[in-house]
Amino acid sequence: MEKIVSLCKRRGFVFQSSEIYGGQNGAWDYGPLGIELKNNIQKAWWREMTQLHDSIVGLDAAILMHPKVWEASGHVANFSDPLVDCKDCKSRFRADDDTQISKENVEARKCPKCGGPLTEPRAFNLMFKTSIGPAQDTSSVIYLRPETAQGIYVNYKNIAQSNRLKIPFGIAQVGKAFRNEIVTKNFIFRTCEFEQMEMQFFVKPGDDEKFFEYWREQRMGYYPKYGIRAEKLRWHHHEKLAHYAKDAYDIEFEFPMGFQELEGIHNRTDFDLTQHTKFSGKDLQYIDQDNGNERYIPYIIETSAGLTRNVLMFLCDAYEEEKVADKGNDDDWRTVLHFHPSIAPVTVAVLPLMKKDGLAELAKDIQNELKEDFMTDYDQSGAIGKRYRRQDEVGTPFCVTVDYDSKEDDTVTLRFRDSMEQVRIKRSELSARIRAEIKNYKRV
Ligand code: GAP
Repeated sequence: MEKIVSLCKRRGFVFQSSEIYGGQNGAWDYGPLGIELKNNIQKAWWREMTQLHDSIVGLDAAILMHPKVWEASGHVANFSDPLVDCKDCKSRFRADDDTQISKENVEARKCPKCGGPLTEPRAFNLMFKTSIGPAQDTSSVIYLRPETAQGIYVNYKNIAQSNRLKIPFGIAQVGKAFRNEIVTKNFIFRTCEFEQMEMQFFVKPGDDEKFFEYWREQRMGYYPKYGIRAEKLRWHHHEKLAHYAKDAYDIEFEFPMGFQELEGIHNRTDFDLTQHTKFSGKDLQYIDQDNGNERYIPYIIETSAGLTRNVLMFLCDAYEEEKVADKGNDDDWRTVLHFHPSIAPVTVAVLPLMKKDGLAELAKDIQNELKEDFMTDYDQSGAIGKRYRRQDEVGTPFCVTVDYDSKEDDTVTLRFRDSMEQVRIKRSELSARIRAEIKNYKRV
């Protein structure tokens, strides 16, 4: 993890928030390569959900919602972690997290750091509370949403009616969520401000278990399509369920600190819509016009993935220090990120062999052509081998090298990141070849 954090900072993927002020815990800033990576991961998910699935549409709901939403959803009453504090050294631990404190220490009320006495576990609500409007009284309380899902539930009737959707159908959304997490270690794994990619699938009661299985299979099959090694993923079945769920599985990924949750698939039943019916007084039943106007509150199958946690997973899965020569010096090794080409922040780097003799101008011209189709980079400084390594380190899958022959015969060298193989091809064939390589990419 330290190597990934260091690479991310050095190459401009992720920086500590407010670093010049000593940093802000639980918050991170995405630099030029980080935002490209995050956008590509989001795009891949969005394509999978909305473009490739006939019955799923998108939504972008506001972060600030009516405070009653969070009473109805159960977050005001239930969305909390049990915390214990040391009365001597003032350390704070999550009592249900054995990476922080053992069960024995919690039961004995003994601080694992200094041996001092611990308080009783207290429920600590994870929602950030702020106020809206000029007066700060109880009527101005508002929350930063701790999950994006509720924005979908409160809009489901608007969306179904305006788009004439028939059950089963889904609504997908990507956006920020906020939780006052006490433990924010492991880089961008668990943060106070993060992004989620959530899809809520509305089904007829009784069909929920069938669709729960369907979505489990879909989601586990999704990640390997983008190069994630299947052996790094596994299921975790929840025994202790969140207040809204009837059944829940996590897809876990093997991060450097071990297998940890990446995405949750939840059978939320009719819990949320029933609660919103009660609290809003509005009828949220679905009317099935194909079945004699049968009315019911739909059941909901949720797939909920962390976008920023996906960024960490893609980085961890892609990272490799590979031995590429045997000369007994630093050049024997390269650091390479084996991103799937459609996830990589930069798709093609264009490199003139020399700056002089018109090669730089020719390379720029080729870059200008390629940038219409792909995210590109241009680098003319340093030895060509070093430039390849710089691109490998940020996961650029293709390098185009422009040399003296290019001036004569309009050919260039196309170099592949993973195999380091090079082929000579006509400049006019570059775009089509790269597109085909992206489509047919297989991680080896
Ligand atoms: N709507 C359901 C829900 O929010 P969750 O299991 O609490 O379920 C879903 O969160 C996903 O959101 C997690 O699998 C994880 O990827 C991501 N996530 C949750 N809390 C996070 C945090 N503090 N920092 C980063 N990602 C987080």
